[in-house]
Amino acid sequence: MSLLLQNATYTTVLFMKNKENGTKRTKKPWPTKDVMEQVYAMKLWGSNTSDFYSGFGSHDPRLVNPYIDAVTSFLSSFESPLVVCDLGCGDFNVGKELVKDAERYVAIDIVADLIAHHKETFKAENLEFQCLDIARDDLPAADCALVRQVLQHVSNSEIQSILSKLKDFKYVIVTEHLPEGDFDPNKDIISGQGIRLKKQSGVDLLAPPFNFKVEEEKQLVSVILDDSKGVIATTLYETF
Ligand SMILES: C[S@@+](CC[C@H](N)C(=O)[O-])C[C@H]1O[C@@H](n2cnc3c(N)ncnc32)[C@H](O)[C@@H]1O
Repeated sequence: MSLLLQNATYTTVLFMKNKENGTKRTKKPWPTKDVMEQVYAMKLWGSNTSDFYSGFGSHDPRLVNPYIDAVTSFLSSFESPLVVCDLGCGDFNVGKELVKDAERYVAIDIVADLIAHHKETFKAENLEFQCLDIARDDLPAADCALVRQVLQHVSNSEIQSILSKLKDFKYVIVTEHLPEGDFDPNKDIISGQGIRLKKQSGVDLLAPPFNFKVEEEKQLVSVILDDSKGVIATTLYETF
């Protein structure tokens, strides 16, 4: 990959011939795998002392602790523990706290180096890591899918593909960074570092164009960020 393209961050800028002035600037999305690898390599979500950092949403105790409490309480409400798939597990600062409450915990991410790092770092008998593209690859069977601050970073067409697999999990727990109050949902973005908040939008899976069909929807936890920076909302869907 050339330095020029690396510096273009998460979109490839192509210069194509055009009738009017000879050139036209056209944005063509990179493959999501390349984008996410670059986000981690260039520390576009910030950094701490570890090799991989998934952003403040994965570390700020005001966001992380209420989520862990709510999901722990949900998972431990079952007499026989659930098999859990953590889709887009990121740096695993959050997921590592939930492993003990699952029968089996499969943590998945598209970034190969991150998954290789986790295989060396996080060990438990019921824990396994897989490097998969959750929009394209077959996913392991499980009772419950956790999708925390992942969909907010991907395009509508990728969300659509992911949703076609999410319907196979009885329970789907989705966390999204949303504007506070009313907003125009599901404006499209190019998959990458950014989210829909900059367009005053956020992901609503039950709204068009997704119209995700569920039996039940329950708000598990919602944390309002300071300075009108939106809300981090976690919703439990029961799909069948
Ligand atoms: C902001 S991080 C969130 C990490 C974690 N869920 C958390 O809440 O701490 C989003 C993660 O989703 C992963 N991701 C994005 N698109 C993906 C895809 N198509 N398949 C698998 N992982 C994906 C990224 O690599 C990244 O690690």
